[in-house]
Amino acid sequence: MAPFATPPIRPFAIELDRSALTLRPEGPVLTRRLSDLAGLFLDTAAWRAAVEDGDPVVYTVSSSPVPESPAELPQSITTIRPGDVGGELNFTKGHIHPRPEGEIYLGLDGEGGLLMFDGTDHVFLELSRDRVGYIPPGWAHRSINTGEADYSFLAVYPGGAGHDYGWVLEHGFGARVYAGSAGPELRPFGHPRPEPAPR
Ligand SMILES: [Fe+2]
Repeated sequence: MAPFATPPIRPFAIELDRSALTLRPEGPVLTRRLSDLAGLFLDTAAWRAAVEDGDPVVYTVSSSPVPESPAELPQSITTIRPGDVGGELNFTKGHIHPRPEGEIYLGLDGEGGLLMFDGTDHVFLELSRDRVGYIPPGWAHRSINTGEADYSFLAVYPGGAGHDYGWVLEHGFGARVYAGSAGPELRPFGHPRPEPAPR
């Protein structure tokens, strides 16, 4: 039998607070500011200007106490603030699982979607409230707020899958999502990279 986290977790219920969009009991809460997303937005000048102009919070991740350990199945709620950088809509850093394992997302509130990339093909799923998105093993994934209010979703993922953010810096997502006059626009690209971020 695979080793469990220490100490072992007993069965318990997790309450999803739909108004606060948090999990109870709550585990770690992660806050990502724009400066944490260096090298990801295409318009580096706009990114730098916004970082210098207050470095806003782009998203938060509220986790349950289930640890990211092999054989466990942690959950988290991510809330992405609305906005854009040079027209490119706010997103999460995005990652691929070093151990190729699947994941599910459940849209909770607001308007947004899930961009996935396997190194060749990209897929964008609109993922509003009560839609479940499936991320197959081997697909990098990033969420995007396409609306004018906060966008929240629940993620459930294998605790041993891991998070590789460097893969995204290297490979991108095959497309970017912009604010268009008639709604969000998915713009595929060859592979332009932003300038390296200043250290
Ligand atoms: Fe993931």
